[in-house]
Amino acid sequence: MRLLVGQDADDAGKLAAGVVLGAVRSNPALVLGLATGSSPLPLYAALAASGADFSGISGFALDEYLDLPDGHPQSYAEVIRTEVTEPLGLDPARVHVPDPHGRDHAAHAAAYDAAIAAAGGVDVQILGVGSNGHIGFNEPGSAFGSRTRVVPLAERTRRDNARFFASPEEVPTQCLTQGIATILEARHLLLVAHGGHKAEAVHRALRGPVTEDFPASVIQRHPQVTVVLDGAAASLLA
Ligand code: GLP
Repeated sequence: MRLLVGQDADDAGKLAAGVVLGAVRSNPALVLGLATGSSPLPLYAALAASGADFSGISGFALDEYLDLPDGHPQSYAEVIRTEVTEPLGLDPARVHVPDPHGRDHAAHAAAYDAAIAAAGGVDVQILGVGSNGHIGFNEPGSAFGSRTRVVPLAERTRRDNARFFASPEEVPTQCLTQGIATILEARHLLLVAHGGHKAEAVHRALRGPVTEDFPASVIQRHPQVTVVLDGAAASLLA
């Protein structure tokens, strides 16, 4: 596991962007795994500012809420469009987000995993970590062998994400998320976190026991992981 620590969130974003830019330089048809939430925003901003050509890459989002109306600004389809696809100049036809609007979520989830495999698998998977240790929306207790599926959101996650919605009740109760086994198939995991509120989760993910009770700890089993933090998020690491 490689650990990079920036001076602040923007500096960490630039360091993480350097990892992605290096991968895109050696493979302009890179398959990039896309995370949402606040953690990767400095990374996406640094990628957009780089002026690099991302038009040949494909993207697969980790997760999507269920039960938001199509086009809701907090749906991850919209967040990916406005924070990633448009600023980086990605080809929208090559950017995939789990579709929550079909009738058969299980069939769609299986097709999503198959689409990732058909694209050759994810080369670099960007990951944030939830304060309860979730990756994607794999909440504590998620099986390490899990595939893309519907999961109920933990109450703590709904509280954490309430800041993005007009009221806490508006936060969806379920989502579609790539499974942990799906995530682990990526060739390179790039975990990003900033802020002192993430220090404990980062410590448990990197140094704690590997357990389904804290899903992010599974990254310790992956052969190629880069973790990019700011000083505050790294503050509990010895
Ligand atoms: C979100 C996403 C995750 C993200 C995590 C942390 O809700 N589903 O993919 O990594 O929770 O969020 P944040 O980066 O805003 O702290």
